[in-house]
Amino acid sequence: MVVCCARPWATFFLQPKIAGPECGLYETVLGERRGTSLSETWNAPEMVDLRAQALAQGTDRSICRSCREVSAKTVLYDSLIPFAVTDRQRLNLGMNRGEFESSKIALASNPACLSVDLWYRCNFRCPLCSLNQGDALAEAEVIELFEQYAETAVHLHVSGGEPLLHPIFLDYLARPEKAPGSLSITTNGSLLDDSILDRLTAFHFVNLHVSIDSFNPATFLQLRTGGDLKNVVDAIRLAVRYKQVVNSRSRSPLWYVALNVVPTSLNLDELPSILFRAAELGVDSVDLCPLDGDHPGYDFMRYPELLDEAKNKPLAEAIRDAFRVLPGLETSGFDRVLQCIEGPSVMQCRGAT
Ligand SMILES: C[S@@+](CC[C@H](N)C(=O)[O-])C[C@H]1O[C@@H](n2cnc3c(N)ncnc32)[C@H](O)[C@@H]1O
Ligand code: SF4
Repeated sequence: MVVCCARPWATFFLQPKIAGPECGLYETVLGERRGTSLSETWNAPEMVDLRAQALAQGTDRSICRSCREVSAKTVLYDSLIPFAVTDRQRLNLGMNRGEFESSKIALASNPACLSVDLWYRCNFRCPLCSLNQGDALAEAEVIELFEQYAETAVHLHVSGGEPLLHPIFLDYLARPEKAPGSLSITTNGSLLDDSILDRLTAFHFVNLHVSIDSFNPATFLQLRTGGDLKNVVDAIRLAVRYKQVVNSRSRSPLWYVALNVVPTSLNLDELPSILFRAAELGVDSVDLCPLDGDHPGYDFMRYPELLDEAKNKPLAEAIRDAFRVLPGLETSGFDRVLQCIEGPSVMQCRGAT
């Protein structure tokens, strides 16, 4: 029997120019093909074909073979059940699972998990980011998203560009009756204030990812150009205060605050102190996101000369010490960085072959 992954049924990643499942296959529906309606895109011929191929081939394609979720045989639907907090979400999740299990490829159910880049407009000009050039989802599609899709979703992740600049999203935050089970926002933190956080208290599960990259003022300016470090740190403090109040009223945690860090040659040495600052601020997690795109001056993970400069055993020990001293702080993405720091010299290996 073909083992098939549920992501093309349960998840949807929508960006201004492309759309697809929330996984390595996300570029399935390309820009020229996309209509302006989310419903059309969710069941576009490319999405329907992808589901048909998944049924025929299972996970026997290179992207799927390297996917940890598939190799771990995670049952996606079971992991979503706790986040379905309303009847509509439970109903949609059950219907979506039923369509997956009965091999339907044009779906009547909505995606259970939605991840959306609303637009690529931003008030920062981070040099490593290409997602601030102005593309945007059509207004009608954003309205459709919040009016018809958010309330049936178990998870809704919103990013950009800067999502907290988007007027329709800001309006939506003020109308929590159409809330998903869990709302997650990735933000540069510059606009995260009492007014936004107050609106978020009306949502059930809230997950805030604040991108920071560095606590060093000079490095912050280089990596988060246009931002103000003090303003972002104050926003993180405020978000943590809200989290603590909300979570103190509940038996299990409802809010989660994480820091996003893109590790580069500029902030690599700072990783241990970023872990300590994060713990001191009371955030839940520090998540490292590998650098995407071609950035020879920054990307120590791919460019041999930078990678060799990064070979620094005391740094690896300092990161491991921080893990030991801060057992309550969650982290992700550090394995790859530690491998790069501790592995053999790339130049020497190349010379030896
Ligand atoms: C594109 S931003 C959008 C959300 C928001 N503006 C922010 O900065 O968090 C989402 C995440 O992508 C990261 N990012 C930006 N450029 C990147 C790149 N070239 N490779 C990997 N991550 C990148 C940012 O640091 C941020 O954590
Ligand atoms: S704040 Fe986010 S979207 Fe804006 S330029 Fe920086 S990384 Fe890109």
